[in-house]
Order: sequence, then C-alpha cells, then structure tokens
Amino acid sequence: MSDTPGFNTLSIHAGAQPDPTTGARATPIYQTTSFVFDDVNHAASLFGLQAFGNIYSRIGNPTCAVMEERIAALEGGTAALAVASGHAAQMNVMHTLMQPGDEFIASNKLYGGSINQFTHAYKNFGWNVKWGDIDDPSTFAAAVTDKTKAIFVESLANPGGVVTDLEAIAKVAKDANVPLIVDSTMATPYLIRPFEHGADIIVHSATKFLAGHGNSIAGAIVDGGTFNWVGDKRYPMLSEPRPEYSGMILAETFGNFAFAIACRVLGLRDLGAALSPFNAFMVSTGMETLALRMQRHCENAQAVAEYLDGHDKVAWVSYPGLPGDRYHNLAKKYCPKGAGAVFTFGLAGGYDAGVSLVSNLKMFSHLANIGDTRSLVIHPASTTHRQLSDEAKVKAGAAPDTVRVSIGIENVEDIIADLDQALAA
Ligand SMILES: Cc1ncc(COP(=O)(O)O)c(C=O)c1O
Repeated sequence: MSDTPGFNTLSIHAGAQPDPTTGARATPIYQTTSFVFDDVNHAASLFGLQAFGNIYSRIGNPTCAVMEERIAALEGGTAALAVASGHAAQMNVMHTLMQPGDEFIASNKLYGGSINQFTHAYKNFGWNVKWGDIDDPSTFAAAVTDKTKAIFVESLANPGGVVTDLEAIAKVAKDANVPLIVDSTMATPYLIRPFEHGADIIVHSATKFLAGHGNSIAGAIVDGGTFNWVGDKRYPMLSEPRPEYSGMILAETFGNFAFAIACRVLGLRDLGAALSPFNAFMVSTGMETLALRMQRHCENAQAVAEYLDGHDKVAWVSYPGLPGDRYHNLAKKYCPKGAGAVFTFGLAGGYDAGVSLVSNLKMFSHLANIGDTRSLVIHPASTTHRQLSDEAKVKAGAAPDTVRVSIGIENVEDIIADLDQALAA
C-alpha cells in the first residue's frame, strides 16, 4: 500500500493481513470466547491495561478488530469500537459521557428508534434529552445549559431527505465545549466524513450500508480524537482515576483515543453489547465493496427520485439530489458524490394510495430496514407509526401519504418499472 492509500484500498485492506498462522487471506472468524495468556504476568498486564491484547470476546476479538480498524481508517478517526447494533453504539457512547441528571441536545430529525431510545430508555438512567430544530442551529445553542454534555445529530437524517449543516452545529458544540456526536449511518464515510466538518464522535448502525446486504445487525463507534477530556470534571469516566484500573486516568493514559478505550473497557465490559465475530466478518466483507455499492445506490436513487418527481400520481418528493429541493445546496456542499439512497415521497391519493402502492410493488421488499442491496419500501402510517395520532404522524414525518424507499443496486430500469406498474395499478 502507498503511504496515503485511497478510500477503495482502505475499504479492502485496512485492518486485515493474511492470517499469520494459516496464511488464510480472508479474515478468519475467531469464534472463541477467550484467549490463552502467555503467563501470569501477561494476564496481569492485560487486565491492568498495561498491554494491548485479547482477553475475552465481550471486550475485544481479532475479527471485530479488523472491522474496527477499517471503519476508523475510512472515517479518519483515531480508533473505533465494534458493538452489537446501532442502538448499542448510541447507548455505549452516552454511558461514557453522561451522569444521572445530565442533558444532551438531539436533532428533531432522527431515526424513530433513536427518538424512542432517547425519550424513554434514557430516562431510566436519569439522562435528559432536549430537542433542537435541525433547520435552525440557534435552537441548539438556546438549549445549552451547564448540564449539557453532548450534541447528537444524523448527517443524512432517516427517513431521508434531510442534510444536516454539520459545520453550523459543530460551531454550537464548540462554543458550548461539548462533543458533537454524528450518526452517519445513512451517509457512510463514502458520502460524508463528519470529522472533516467538526464532529468529535461518529456512530453507525453498521446493519445498514456498511454491512450492506440486509443480513447482520451491527454497530460502530469511531473516536475522532479531537475532544480534550483531560482534567474535565464533567466527564468523570474519562477524567477521574479508575479504581478498578489502579487509579489510571483514561484521558491521560490514552490521549487521543481515550474515548474509544473508555467505550471498550467500561462500556463493553459493563453493558455487554459485544458484536459477534461472525457479524464483524459480515460487516468487514461488506465494507470491501462500500464505494461501489454507494455509488450505484446514489445513481439509482437520483434516477428514481427524478422519475417520481415527474409522475402525476406523486404529490411531492423529498430528495436532496433534486435541484429544487430545500436541502439541495447542503447536499452539494456535504455529499457531492450523491445524496444517499433513502428518501420519502407522497402520493396524491393519500393513505389508501400508500397502502395500495406497497401492496402492488413486486420487486421492492416491504420491510422495516434500509441500506440493503435490494430495494425496500415501507408505508410508515400503516406500519411503524400506526399507533400515533394523525397529528403526531405528520410531526414524525409519517404523514398518511408518505412512502419511504431505500433504493437498491438492481438495474435502475427494473426499479422504475416496478414503481411504474404499482403506481398504474
Ligand atoms: C440512522 C439510524 N441510526 C441508528 C439505527 C439503529 O440501528 P440498529 O438497528 O443497528 O440498532 C438505525 C436503524 O434503522 C438508523 O436508521
């Protein structure tokens, strides 16, 4: 490899070498719970964090390490951590930053599951979420108090169509001296690299485009190495002596990858949401083709959005790749290679038309996921958001007429033909 390998090269090679024992070229799946120590001193140094190495697969595993190094390299971070799911990544990050009574500010445009997690589950830990309007960064600034510990946004927001002005939000975070956490699931590092725009921590649901084939639940945390935790009493997990590690202060010992270490040796150790080596293998393998897939996903999504925009049964299309879209300029700035593959549109016939479209599609799969090679569709009002009042549905971006698609990498003419026959029906 050259000294500065390109994105495609890193996607394939970062973190991986031929297996030193067998010569296996593909990364072996180290399906083991534990690792034999050289001797008693070796074991003691691993447990005391004086040496890096494998102890127990809840805390680290060589197959997971390949995925970790690869995503850290692609995002331009100092270190990464593989975890059991996207939600586990968010949970682990907040566990590392927050104490009971603390607050964080989150964008009002997020994946619905994250809104649930932040609103309900986090209450049990005494962590309070406040909401900022993603279209108005001043609302984030107005929500800052002396209890604020972080700001959380998605780079491209699920269910699609929203491009976040990362630099504007990063300025608010910097002024408040708190880390900016960016969920970059929908963008992947192929489209947007949030550390280049002021993020401090990135989380992924690797379940989606990173793994890319709709077959594995996985998550990742990437440390940008940009936030200085040393001596900052607001973040005691990082800045105070750890009794179980002989009084070690993680921020001082591990410098610009202390956050990733804390998420591993405190978060994974105690919360336990470790990724299985098999799923790490699936994600690393998926990442080898990330650029090719994302390029095709975006080309297809652009063509499908243009087709829908010109269809007389379609009332509106929310895709930032369309020139008239309200996020088009932000898309040109933050993701010039493409505006992602997940977006929403509305049917002139409202709720009934949405149900009918989903029922009549033949190649699209009707399910609750995004970021598969296959094209996917869901009608939120009759499924994921069914229990909400009509008003709440609209607020959550799930109005009765709204359809969400995740455009796959099939031949685009087949995707459009399927939509065409379903709209005609
Ligand atoms: C943007 C985003 N973040 C996080 C998650 C949660 O990820 P997981 O299902 O892997 O826990 C999802 C899931 O759809 C998502 O779309």
